[in-house]
Amino acid sequence: MNKITFIGAGNMASSLIGGLLAQGTPAAHICASEPSAERRAQIAQQFNIQTFADNQQACAGADIIILAVKPQIMRQVCESLAQQLTAQQLIISIAAGITTASLAQWLQHQSIVRCMPNTPALVQQGISGLFAAEAVSTAQKQAAEHILNSVGASVWLSEEQQIDAVTAVSGSGPAYFFLLVEAMVEAGVKLGLNEHTAKQLAQQTALGAARMLCESPLSAAELRQQVTSPQGTTEAAIRRFQAAGFESIVSLALAAAAQRSAELAQQFTD
Ligand SMILES: NC(=O)c1ccc[n+]([C@@H]2O[C@H](COP(=O)([O-])OP(=O)(O)OC[C@H]3O[C@@H](n4cnc5c(N)ncnc54)[C@H](OP(=O)(O)O)[C@@H]3O)[C@@H](O)[C@H]2O)c1
Repeated sequence: MNKITFIGAGNMASSLIGGLLAQGTPAAHICASEPSAERRAQIAQQFNIQTFADNQQACAGADIIILAVKPQIMRQVCESLAQQLTAQQLIISIAAGITTASLAQWLQHQSIVRCMPNTPALVQQGISGLFAAEAVSTAQKQAAEHILNSVGASVWLSEEQQIDAVTAVSGSGPAYFFLLVEAMVEAGVKLGLNEHTAKQLAQQTALGAARMLCESPLSAAELRQQVTSPQGTTEAAIRRFQAAGFESIVSLALAAAAQRSAELAQQFTD
């Protein structure tokens, strides 16, 4: 079984560690490196895994190294690991905006998988887009997929550039739903509900609709048509959405996110 080292033990690393343990990976096969002593103690206590203050020590003997630090410090972290990596080790980066080419250059290493997870990973309902550099073996791809799937699901991308689109759809996507719920709560209050009741109604509706989308064989459009009777209340609302250009707003918003993702990637590229 693979030995997995996390570099950086923040929010996303904790979700993955929790997911892996829940899926049956033994705690003895996972370790994490983290500069904050307080955070190390917290992680060690929560997950019963070995922790390190030193990234190089943490990586010795690892089959898979997961880079889970902020993009701003990725270069420095990678360059400090470059000397000691062995060709068999798989590097998985979850950092936004850092290309496999930059990672390969900083790490002097070729087996790299780049991922874009999203925040529902914190509740084991995430989805990640994964891109593998050419040197990554089939077994390593399976291992990467297993790790990311421990906090939800994943999709493989054939081109690295597609990460920008993944960022636009699922990376930033949870916030779009939060925004919709915020607006529905506000509208519900305007229509005479108290805030607590409006929140309960909007949140549970979001959950119910999400479960129907995931569990039904019908498409989103078909599900919508099913609940939209002619001349009915839903039709009245949807007509208003569409008259205000709903589809075009969503399309413009996602294009802006994808463009920003590409700009950030450019910023971190040499
Ligand atoms: N959270 C998300 O939903 C999400 C989604 C997609 C991608 N990501 C990516 O995931 C990565 C981590 O995000 P996060 O939300 O988990 O951030 P985070 O909670 O800030 O975790 C980063 C951790 O790395 C530690 N760290 C700092 N310098 C380090 C070093 N030199 N060596 C080892 N560890 C170091 C930090 O410790 P200190 O706090 O003590 O500095 C912190 O605990 C980012 O690159 C982000 O782009 C996150």
